[in-house]
Amino acid sequence: MITATDPESTRMLDADLFRTVAGYWPTGVAVITTVDADGRPYGLTANAVTSLSIKPLQYLICVDLRATSLPALLESRLFCLNFLADGQEDVAQIFASKKEYKFGEFGWSRLPNALPVIDGNVAHIGCEVVAVHDGGDHKIIVGGVTHIGITGGDPLVYFKGAFHRITQP
Ligand SMILES: Cc1cc2nc3c(=O)[nH]c(=O)nc-3n(C[C@H](O)[C@H](O)[C@H](O)COP(=O)(O)O)c2cc1C
Repeated sequence: MITATDPESTRMLDADLFRTVAGYWPTGVAVITTVDADGRPYGLTANAVTSLSIKPLQYLICVDLRATSLPALLESRLFCLNFLADGQEDVAQIFASKKEYKFGEFGWSRLPNALPVIDGNVAHIGCEVVAVHDGGDHKIIVGGVTHIGITGGDPLVYFKGAFHRITQP
């Protein structure tokens, strides 16, 4: 067992331990897509994503200050959450990478406001940014929901640093 509560062991409260303990919280896997002012698509894989408010409808995402997608998102103030289906591990890997252009290897379309929607997602949520807060080395971004689409199916799951399926093939 690893514990890091007493002063002697606080030196263990480092980034690796933080990532390990965070990995014990299973999450879905989203691709946050966005566009810049010219409509060029960007996106990143994310699990720091949560529903926030019902009245009004709001979602919350946390984006690393180093993410290439962040300036575009803050410029257009638009993002779409694509909840990935099991079987979309390859899409998750593409959007977790630093590839310059990530939209060439799978099907996708656009919402009327140009936000990219990835084919095969179990659900997607289009948002307009309503608030941006500082959160350490991330930005905490609140989006007002403008669009909801539900395809259904089983979601891709992230747990202990790896992708999992709820239903084993
Ligand atoms: C399962 C998983 C979850 C992730 N969650 C986040 C997240 O919530 N926020 C974030 O900024 N990066 C997250 N990342 C890392 C980004 O996907 C990664 O840094 C990506 O390369 C950023 O792309 P960009 O720089 O092109 O925007 C996650 C990666 C994985 C594999």
